[in-house]
Amino acid sequence: PHPPLVDPFQRAISYLRVSVTDRCDFRCVYCMSENMTFLPRKELLTLEELDRLCTAFVRMGVRKLRITGGEPLVRRDILTFFRAMSRHLDSGALNELTLTTNGSQLSRFAGDLYDAGVRRVNVSLDTLDETKFARITRWGRLAQVLRGIDAAQAAGLRVKINTVALRGFNEDELFTLVEWCAERDMDLTFIEVMPMGDLGNEDRLDQYWSLADMRRTLAQVYTLDDIPLRTGGPARYVRLRETGQALGFITPLSHNFCESCNRVRLTCTGELFMCLGQEDVADLRAPMRASPQDGPLDAAIRAAIARKPKGHDFDYSRQVPDGQMSRHMSHTGG
Ligand code: GTP
Ligand code: 5AD
Ligand code: SF4
Repeated sequence: PHPPLVDPFQRAISYLRVSVTDRCDFRCVYCMSENMTFLPRKELLTLEELDRLCTAFVRMGVRKLRITGGEPLVRRDILTFFRAMSRHLDSGALNELTLTTNGSQLSRFAGDLYDAGVRRVNVSLDTLDETKFARITRWGRLAQVLRGIDAAQAAGLRVKINTVALRGFNEDELFTLVEWCAERDMDLTFIEVMPMGDLGNEDRLDQYWSLADMRRTLAQVYTLDDIPLRTGGPARYVRLRETGQALGFITPLSHNFCESCNRVRLTCTGELFMCLGQEDVADLRAPMRASPQDGPLDAAIRAAIARKPKGHDFDYSRQVPDGQMSRHMSHTGG
């Protein structure tokens, strides 16, 4: 009765990213502006509404649910939501319930997340230098995040570090980061910086560090073997022969991966973004609120998926980045 979601390019949608809040306790420069205005709390979907939306997607074949923000762990009662979603793990409908976090609240939440069925967390960390960390996050404390990571590992969660590759910022830490993660048995994924948000005096073109270049730098020291590891996300993985460690590369700019896209993004106000790199958005809140029955909501979801575009238009090959979007990354949670 519920055929799976397939878009116009024959891509099955099995991965839903859900931003549960637009708020964050940090202000990473490539993600938010310093004086972000946040939504009034009453604009947010309730946890019951988020549940209803996620459950609709699960019914239609979503197998992987990633909770994002802003920072998901700053939303009040967020554990209630994780516990509610874990019933879809128990029923076998979901393969994975996970989150992407800045790590600042992990020491408080790690154990409870594990108990709710989370087995893996992605933690954003761009530098291991305290001063640089405070600069990139505008005021974050590195030590607090490191404590969070330790707590997550102690609770039994597998930790993957996400590092945005920024020329002139963390180029000099490439090998330090790789070794630091290897020592802690953590996976590490690098992400090419995308031209989103108001750039202000930031120059993304100058910051852009192609991961194709990074691979060449790594290859001067390590032997990189491509491996077929797949997590359902966009990263492509290599294994470093010398350390045995897996490294991921997310390359929206240097190597477009939209062809195998399997995901859509739900915001904390019930909008569905069919692509991270496009503005088109579908409102799911109105059809959900219009009826306690699932018919109108399911129809709205199918109509939205039928509009999923082929891919993003990000491009740094000209002087001005093409595909630049005024939307902040924090709006859709990456
Ligand atoms: P895994 O389950 O570990 O594979 O995680 P993931 O890569 O699916 O999720 P994560 O939140 O760690 O994503 C890392 C980043 O990759 C996102 O925040 C985005 O910046 C980027 N990303 C993920 N999906 C897409 C996509 O469809 N298009 C583009 N351009 N970037 C994406
Ligand atoms: N380009 C690339 N990655 C970004 N992230 C946030 N903003 C950007 C951007 N402009 C990353 C964060 C986090 C993930 C959710 O998205 O560092 O790891
Ligand atoms: Fe917050 Fe994550 Fe955006 Fe940084 S990247 S400001 S931690 S939501």
